[in-house]
Amino acid sequence: MSHPPSQPRTPVFAANWKMSHGPAETGAFVERFTAHHRRRSDATVVIFPPAISLAAFAAAASGRLDLEFGVQDVHTELEGAHTSGISAAMVPATGATWALAGHSERRREFGDTDADVGRKLVRILEAGLRPVLCVGETLEERESGRLSTVLETQIREAVRPLDREDRARLVYAYEPVWAIGTGRTASPADAAEAHAIVREQLARTEGCDAERAAILYGGSVKPANIEALLAAPGVDGVLVGGASLDPDSWAAICAAGR
Ligand code: 13P
Repeated sequence: MSHPPSQPRTPVFAANWKMSHGPAETGAFVERFTAHHRRRSDATVVIFPPAISLAAFAAAASGRLDLEFGVQDVHTELEGAHTSGISAAMVPATGATWALAGHSERRREFGDTDADVGRKLVRILEAGLRPVLCVGETLEERESGRLSTVLETQIREAVRPLDREDRARLVYAYEPVWAIGTGRTASPADAAEAHAIVREQLARTEGCDAERAAILYGGSVKPANIEALLAAPGVDGVLVGGASLDPDSWAAICAAGR
């Protein structure tokens, strides 16, 4: 049986603001960024503001439908006594269409396990949001030769509760923990190697679409290294923290590969 030709994967430029840019700063950011960023039909631009800034973001970006946005996390439950939790079911009403799951800062600071990440993916997909599953190894795991094992386990366990159709909807972000906020970027060759491991794991996992799944790289991405990283084999976009906080630097990143 012949397979359909593989589709080119549209590059994704994703900004994770983490706990920066409250409602008071969000409008000014959007105004400055949109003044510099030319719409592009060949790429997706998505911003993950802190949840408290979603309404400000939606209001400021209402004239720019090309700018997508999402939440940085959701709770494993949909409602109830979970103080401070964000229910995936409540997210679409904000206009947000994406959600991160499994960011290493959630795993480290809040103890999110692979099983929690799987439950969050279920909630995200039920709500009709586009999930980004974040995976990545610590320096200690890399140096002890466990890169493949860590990535494979994180993917296998997180997708376990998903059915075949949902597995095919995931976007992935490879974010080596040692490169996050450290200024230490994975080389394009390091990124290509890890992305190949992720894609091999997807090929081995029923329902996951290794051919079409977008795999983003995250970890100290900057205007100075974006072109080289995007050109690395298997890198379909980026998930940017620090360098996405400045609207000019973020606009420079989003102009890459034009
Ligand atoms: P930095 O770009 O600040 O290293 O953060 C990367 C990240 O964690 C994005 O989710």
